[in-house]
Amino acid sequence: MAEIRVSAEREYTVRITGDWRGDLSPIASKRDRVAIIYPATLSDSLPSFSYSNTEVLLLPIPDGEAGKSSKTITYIWDQLAKAGFTRSDLIVAIGGGTVTDAAGFAASSWLRGIDWVAVPTTLAGMVDAAVGGKTGINSPYGKNLIGAFHSPVSVLIDASWLKTLSDRDFAAGLAEVIKCGFIDDAEILNLVSHKSLSQIRDDNSLVNNLIERSVTTKAKVVSQDFKESELREILNYGHTFGHAIERVSDYAIRHGEAVSIGMVFVAELAAAEDLIDSTLVEKHREILRGLGLPTSLGAIPGANNWPSLFAAIALDKKSRGSTIRFVVLNEIGNCGRLEGVTEEQLKSAYEKVLS
Ligand code: GLY
Repeated sequence: MAEIRVSAEREYTVRITGDWRGDLSPIASKRDRVAIIYPATLSDSLPSFSYSNTEVLLLPIPDGEAGKSSKTITYIWDQLAKAGFTRSDLIVAIGGGTVTDAAGFAASSWLRGIDWVAVPTTLAGMVDAAVGGKTGINSPYGKNLIGAFHSPVSVLIDASWLKTLSDRDFAAGLAEVIKCGFIDDAEILNLVSHKSLSQIRDDNSLVNNLIERSVTTKAKVVSQDFKESELREILNYGHTFGHAIERVSDYAIRHGEAVSIGMVFVAELAAAEDLIDSTLVEKHREILRGLGLPTSLGAIPGANNWPSLFAAIALDKKSRGSTIRFVVLNEIGNCGRLEGVTEEQLKSAYEKVLS
């Protein structure tokens, strides 16, 4: 249906397709061995894979942030070793962002890097995690602290996976779509404004359009700055505070929900510096709330704890040296950076998203 080219470490295509299995077949059947890595929760609904000259290894792993661990990676490495995986074999990651992150990291580290294909099954995975080659796992000290840049050879996005997603997970994925609207493509904000979550979900062509637009934003950014020397940081809009919320709440909420609050937080931070006006801050709240996404810390367990949030922000990998650095908006589609932000400034923005 649509193909978006990415040129980052290698050239590859993100294909928005109605037939991911059909598209996977010619890629997989060229390899001697293929490991299909997927969340154990998908075991009963996964189709069978059979290619005439290819040995298929099925590797279920735990889903969710807890599965993005060194234990999961060790399990994958052990299975690849037992099956005799070589440099010319392939990993196929089928799942949400946590599964594609972990499987992609296994691909990046096995024999110093083998090919992998991403088949994202969640909206967050389709518009963010599966595209761009960031792979990794969590450390007890923070999210995504261990990882590698390792582009897939292909990304196969089939929106029919989304039919099984809960409204909560769909909305969490929309947070990353909205992020692309604020940092790059204002039309995304127009397309979702004044629409309910179910109106969006029920409109297949709108969903495919939102996916294509978000992937186009991401492809454009990662093709210019694969290793995040600067431009790619804009994809982390709202993520510094979002990651801190995830960590202090022990991942009690979805990544996209945390990013939703994080975007309001960073909009408040920018408004306090007169970079944007309060109307744009309220536009964040209005669009995100309209889709049922949280815009304040409210009742999130463990999150109303400034010292813990501040410690988590300080550890965030986007901080350089001892300087805390945030991606902010100057206007929709125009990002800047706020550096050397003080704890006082941060706490003041925190107080505006408390309730
Ligand atoms: N999720 C942000 C990035 O891929 O850079």
